[in-house]
Amino acid sequence: MRVLVIGSGAREHALVSALRRDPAVSAVVAAPGNAGIAQHAQTRPVDPCSAEAVVALATDTAADLVVIGPEVPLVLGVADAVRAAGFACFGPSAAAARIEGSKAFAKDVMAAAGVRTAHSEIVDNPADLDAELDRFGPTWVVKDDGLAAGKGVVVTADRSAARDHGAELLEQGHPVLLESFLDGPEVSLFCLVDGETVVPLLPAQDHKRVGDGDTGPNTGGMGAYTPLPWLPEDAVTAIVDDVVKPVAAELVRRDSGFSGLLYAGLAMGSEGPAVVEFNCRFGDPETQAVLALLESPLGELLNATATGTLAEVAPPRWRDGSAITVVIAAENYPGRPRIGDVITGAGEGSGDESAAVLHAGTALREDGTLVSAGGRVLNVVGVGADLAEARTNAYERIASIKLPGSHYRTDIGLAAVENRIEIPARQERDAEAVAVSSTADGDTRS
Ligand code: GLY
Repeated sequence: MRVLVIGSGAREHALVSALRRDPAVSAVVAAPGNAGIAQHAQTRPVDPCSAEAVVALATDTAADLVVIGPEVPLVLGVADAVRAAGFACFGPSAAAARIEGSKAFAKDVMAAAGVRTAHSEIVDNPADLDAELDRFGPTWVVKDDGLAAGKGVVVTADRSAARDHGAELLEQGHPVLLESFLDGPEVSLFCLVDGETVVPLLPAQDHKRVGDGDTGPNTGGMGAYTPLPWLPEDAVTAIVDDVVKPVAAELVRRDSGFSGLLYAGLAMGSEGPAVVEFNCRFGDPETQAVLALLESPLGELLNATATGTLAEVAPPRWRDGSAITVVIAAENYPGRPRIGDVITGAGEGSGDESAAVLHAGTALREDGTLVSAGGRVLNVVGVGADLAEARTNAYERIASIKLPGSHYRTDIGLAAVENRIEIPARQERDAEAVAVSSTADGDTRS
């Protein structure tokens, strides 16, 4: 099987590495890829958002399967064009990708499917912002109702910071989504979804804030670990049955059946899991840790999803132990990152499988020097018999990498190792906090 992977981040580097471990995959081409991906696969320059260019490349490379990594091409309908040209494609249609592309659509689907999520209001008129803010918080959750790579979200106990963010989004012409705050530790559960067939991968936890101890602004994700030692054993089954399957069924009912990776971002609160967000693609950086533990052939799983035969393949097998990924970010990320700095020590030649270096925002200068080319520059993925060992392996590898001005979190997975993560105990329900639909026609009680 010849596979074309679209995208250029560490998520795509992890996908390419895992695909190359599948004996049924004879060739992997990545477009546009990055300097690290180019060490394992042919890379070709292409605009991931140009359906025409992606179809032309699939034709040129005789791809048997096209895997689309990022959300923007999916929301723009690139998967539709690839399928229309006769290629098997891993990634949802534009209609189904609205589950990520429009938070208002996602809320509507969840309400109709009876799935618990935060109470929310859209504000599209600056004159309404203050009155709406008064109906929420503290804590305030202010989101861009569109795609913003995680950075469009502000979660704050400071009303004026919430107001400033909302006003700035409105000024840019973006509708604002205000949400009630969901308590409880977060879980990212990735599911392969083919219509109403749902196959979960290992649950993971992202670390979205830039600084240790969950301080500073939100980012696209600074690190992740899997599995989650604090998550009850039956939680994944409960999330699949109560959250992902109802949403997949509702999308089918709307003629927008999902095919690809449906990412449920959840808060494990006192009343059970509630959805923070859905994404229409593999999460970044959780994928880098999850795929490090995958033993099953990835190409077979993605191809089965793309060709409507997911129900026929064996469920994924996982190696024992834990994995973490730690993001090395450029100076000033998540603001405007400084790029063009020289990276040393990131070579993968050690043969040490307990810690791999994946590239995110990197490029090669003409003289072959590796330099930073984005906000999140590298990921170091550590695996170990347990989470503590995986952390040690990752952080020891990081110590040998040099990038001027860079920063990374030192506490990825630490709260789990120290048993500091608890799901809040069940208590009297705050009727305002969580919206649940109990009817099939989308009526939402809050
Ligand atoms: N880990 C956050 C995201 O992929 O959106």
